[in-house]
Amino acid sequence: MDEKQLRKSLADLSLGGFRFYKQTGSTNDVALAWATEGAADLSLVVADEQTSGRGRSGRRWLTPPGTALALSLILHPNPSENFHFSHFSGLGSLALTQIFSERGLPAQVKWPNDVLIGGRKAAGILAEAVWMGDQVESVVIGIGVNVLPESVPPSSEVHFPATSIHSEGLKIDRIELLHDLLSRVISLRPQLGKERFIQAWEKSLAFMNKTVQIWSEPAAGQTGSTSHTGTLLGLEADGALRLETASGIQIIQFGEIRLRPV
Ligand code: BTN
Repeated sequence: MDEKQLRKSLADLSLGGFRFYKQTGSTNDVALAWATEGAADLSLVVADEQTSGRGRSGRRWLTPPGTALALSLILHPNPSENFHFSHFSGLGSLALTQIFSERGLPAQVKWPNDVLIGGRKAAGILAEAVWMGDQVESVVIGIGVNVLPESVPPSSEVHFPATSIHSEGLKIDRIELLHDLLSRVISLRPQLGKERFIQAWEKSLAFMNKTVQIWSEPAAGQTGSTSHTGTLLGLEADGALRLETASGIQIIQFGEIRLRPV
């Protein structure tokens, strides 16, 4: 990835700031540190390679050089967005599914925020917050996309089958993909918290009306996890998942959750 080309391609997006790394540990770590130092809204961190990329629930996320998209976008939620913090993960996954689908590659969201193509994971989102008292001061939306087949981790490293967008037939250039993704995030953002946003997110869900099993991951330092099995019915207004189980409707809150079809 060439920084000059990247800057040129992103020039029309009114980013608040931009940092590019040929190699870094984790773009989310860079973005979180930058956010606490006063990064402007819509500041972007991109890396060609991550040496300690992070996935959800403390898992590793591999980003070998020249093969993937790894970025973190810093947003300062306005008061109405702050109220809908969990929607920021949906913002990333919905933007990706929409741009893939519009380019002829049907994609779906495995709630809360994995992007599936042909039932296999092609991208993941890690949204993290910087708090100021009880308010979210900044949100970092970390997005990792497997672009070339070389970016797909070995099956021993993943909890869910994985793929890359090139393997699935979308041979898009990474810079073009990044531009498309960011402009979609920017255009979807005003819908955060609105019914229209939830409807679009819900429409993009994988396994709708299918039986799924959901586990909540135990909190750090704790063991044991709660599990629910039921039919996936859709989303609540706050982005929580509605599940019909043998004991009635269960609302699964957004968090450290894993979902798989049964
Ligand atoms: C997941 O599916 O577990 C989430 C993966 C998120 C990976 C991205 S890559 C860019 C950003 N930097 C990180 O360290 N993680 C996110």
